[in-house]
Amino acid sequence: MSDVKQIVHNLTNQYGKSVESLLPILQNIMEINHVITEEAMIEVARELDISAAEVFGTATFYSFLNTSKPYGKYIIRVCKTITCMMHGKNQIIEEIELMLKIKPGETTHDRLFTLLETNCLGQCHQGPAMLINDTPYTQLTPSKVRDIINSYLVLEVSNY
Ligand code: FES
Repeated sequence: MSDVKQIVHNLTNQYGKSVESLLPILQNIMEINHVITEEAMIEVARELDISAAEVFGTATFYSFLNTSKPYGKYIIRVCKTITCMMHGKNQIIEEIELMLKIKPGETTHDRLFTLLETNCLGQCHQGPAMLINDTPYTQLTPSKVRDIINSYLVLEVSNY
Protein backbone atom coordinates (compact mmCIF):
# COMPACT_ATOMS: atom_id res chain seq x y z
CA MET A 1 0.00 0.00 0.00
CA SER A 2 1.43 3.43 -0.93
CA ASP A 3 2.03 6.07 1.73
CA VAL A 4 -0.94 8.09 0.52
CA LYS A 5 -3.23 5.06 0.54
CA GLN A 6 -2.09 4.20 4.04
CA ILE A 7 -2.67 7.76 5.26
CA VAL A 8 -6.16 7.90 3.73
CA HIS A 9 -6.96 4.47 5.09
CA ASN A 10 -5.89 5.48 8.61
CA LEU A 11 -7.87 8.72 8.42
CA THR A 12 -11.05 7.00 7.26
CA ASN A 13 -10.65 4.59 10.16
CA GLN A 14 -10.32 7.57 12.47
CA TYR A 15 -13.08 9.80 11.05
CA GLY A 16 -15.43 7.23 9.55
CA LYS A 17 -16.62 6.76 6.01
CA SER A 18 -19.57 9.16 5.91
CA VAL A 19 -19.48 12.16 3.61
CA GLU A 20 -19.20 14.45 6.69
CA SER A 21 -15.72 13.02 7.16
CA LEU A 22 -14.56 14.41 3.83
CA LEU A 23 -13.37 17.82 5.04
CA PRO A 24 -11.55 16.64 8.19
CA ILE A 25 -9.87 13.91 6.16
CA LEU A 26 -8.71 16.43 3.55
CA GLN A 27 -7.51 18.82 6.28
CA ASN A 28 -5.49 16.03 7.86
CA ILE A 29 -3.94 14.97 4.56
CA MET A 30 -2.99 18.61 4.11
CA GLU A 31 -1.38 18.71 7.54
CA ILE A 32 0.57 15.53 6.93
CA ASN A 33 1.64 15.98 3.29
CA HIS A 34 1.26 19.77 2.75
CA VAL A 35 -0.57 18.95 -0.48
CA ILE A 36 -3.59 16.93 -1.60
CA THR A 37 -2.54 15.05 -4.70
CA GLU A 38 -4.78 13.55 -7.34
CA GLU A 39 -3.88 10.10 -6.01
CA ALA A 40 -5.02 11.16 -2.53
CA MET A 41 -8.31 12.56 -3.86
CA ILE A 42 -9.04 9.36 -5.78
CA GLU A 43 -8.22 7.30 -2.73
CA VAL A 44 -10.49 9.41 -0.51
CA ALA A 45 -13.30 9.01 -3.06
CA ARG A 46 -12.77 5.25 -3.09
CA GLU A 47 -12.72 4.96 0.70
CA LEU A 48 -15.81 7.17 1.20
CA ASP A 49 -17.58 5.69 -1.82
CA ILE A 50 -18.26 9.09 -3.37
CA SER A 51 -17.26 10.52 -6.74
CA ALA A 52 -13.75 11.83 -7.31
CA ALA A 53 -15.43 14.99 -8.67
CA GLU A 54 -17.01 15.61 -5.27
CA VAL A 55 -13.67 15.25 -3.52
CA PHE A 56 -11.97 17.46 -6.10
CA GLY A 57 -14.75 20.08 -5.77
CA THR A 58 -14.30 20.25 -2.00
CA ALA A 59 -10.49 20.20 -2.11
CA THR A 60 -10.32 23.03 -4.63
CA PHE A 61 -13.10 25.11 -3.00
CA TYR A 62 -11.24 25.77 0.24
CA SER A 63 -8.22 28.04 -0.11
CA PHE A 64 -6.61 26.38 2.90
CA LEU A 65 -6.42 23.09 1.02
CA ASN A 66 -3.61 22.91 -1.50
CA THR A 67 -3.95 20.72 -4.57
CA SER A 68 -0.98 22.06 -6.53
CA LYS A 69 2.67 21.87 -5.49
CA PRO A 70 3.52 20.78 -1.94
CA TYR A 71 3.66 23.68 0.48
CA GLY A 72 6.50 24.26 2.89
CA LYS A 73 6.51 23.29 6.54
CA TYR A 74 5.48 26.83 7.49
CA ILE A 75 2.73 28.42 5.43
CA ILE A 76 2.75 32.19 5.72
CA ARG A 77 -0.59 33.73 4.75
CA VAL A 78 -0.54 37.51 4.62
CA CYS A 79 -3.92 39.22 4.55
CA LYS A 80 -4.42 41.11 1.30
CA THR A 81 -7.83 42.58 2.10
CA ILE A 82 -8.48 46.32 2.13
CA THR A 83 -7.85 47.21 5.81
CA CYS A 84 -4.53 45.38 5.95
CA MET A 85 -3.68 46.75 2.52
CA MET A 86 -4.19 50.29 3.86
CA HIS A 87 -2.04 49.54 6.90
CA GLY A 88 1.02 48.46 4.97
CA LYS A 89 0.50 44.88 3.85
CA ASN A 90 2.73 45.51 0.81
CA GLN A 91 5.73 46.36 3.01
CA ILE A 92 5.12 43.14 4.94
CA ILE A 93 5.13 41.11 1.75
CA GLU A 94 8.26 42.93 0.53
CA GLU A 95 10.09 42.18 3.77
CA ILE A 96 9.22 38.48 3.56
CA GLU A 97 10.23 38.38 -0.12
CA LEU A 98 13.53 39.96 0.78
CA MET A 99 14.22 37.58 3.65
CA LEU A 100 13.13 34.32 2.05
CA LYS A 101 13.79 35.14 -1.63
CA ILE A 102 10.35 33.97 -2.69
CA LYS A 103 7.29 35.67 -4.15
CA PRO A 104 3.67 35.01 -3.14
CA GLY A 105 2.71 31.51 -4.31
CA GLU A 106 6.27 30.22 -4.00
CA THR A 107 8.05 27.90 -1.58
CA THR A 108 11.65 28.17 -0.43
CA HIS A 109 14.06 25.57 -1.85
CA ASP A 110 14.48 23.95 1.56
CA ARG A 111 10.67 23.56 1.71
CA LEU A 112 10.51 25.42 4.99
CA PHE A 113 8.32 28.38 3.99
CA THR A 114 5.52 29.02 1.53
CA LEU A 115 4.32 32.59 1.08
CA LEU A 116 0.66 33.17 0.21
CA GLU A 117 -1.71 36.10 0.18
CA THR A 118 -5.13 35.45 1.62
CA ASN A 119 -8.43 37.15 2.28
CA CYS A 120 -9.40 38.75 5.59
CA LEU A 121 -8.22 36.80 8.63
CA GLY A 122 -10.68 38.50 10.97
CA GLN A 123 -7.97 40.62 12.59
CA CYS A 124 -8.76 43.84 10.69
CA HIS A 125 -8.63 46.10 13.77
CA GLN A 126 -5.03 44.93 14.31
CA GLY A 127 -3.80 44.83 10.74
CA PRO A 128 -1.64 44.21 8.93
CA ALA A 129 -2.07 40.58 9.88
CA MET A 130 -0.73 37.21 8.83
CA LEU A 131 -0.94 33.57 9.83
CA ILE A 132 1.96 31.17 10.03
CA ASN A 133 0.26 27.80 9.95
CA ASP A 134 -2.39 28.30 12.66
CA THR A 135 -0.69 31.11 14.58
CA PRO A 136 -1.94 34.66 13.95
CA TYR A 137 0.41 37.66 14.02
CA THR A 138 -0.97 41.18 14.05
CA GLN A 139 0.07 44.85 13.99
CA LEU A 140 2.93 43.82 11.77
CA THR A 141 5.80 46.04 10.78
CA PRO A 142 8.72 45.00 8.57
CA SER A 143 11.00 44.66 11.61
CA LYS A 144 8.40 42.66 13.56
CA VAL A 145 8.00 40.31 10.59
CA ARG A 146 11.76 39.90 10.41
CA ASP A 147 11.84 38.90 14.10
CA ILE A 148 8.96 36.46 13.65
CA ILE A 149 10.53 34.72 10.63
CA ASN A 150 13.87 34.62 12.42
CA SER A 151 12.22 32.93 15.40
CA TYR A 152 11.07 30.11 13.08
CA LEU A 153 14.56 29.82 11.62
CA VAL A 154 16.07 29.62 15.11
CA LEU A 155 13.51 26.94 16.00
CA GLU A 156 14.55 24.92 12.97
CA VAL A 157 18.24 25.20 13.80
CA SER A 158 17.63 24.15 17.41
CA ASN A 159 15.52 21.15 16.22
CA TYR A 160 18.20 20.04 13.80
FE1 FES B 1 -6.76 41.97 7.10
FE2 FES B 1 -9.24 41.71 7.98
S1 FES B 1 -8.53 43.03 6.42
S2 FES B 1 -7.45 40.80 8.74
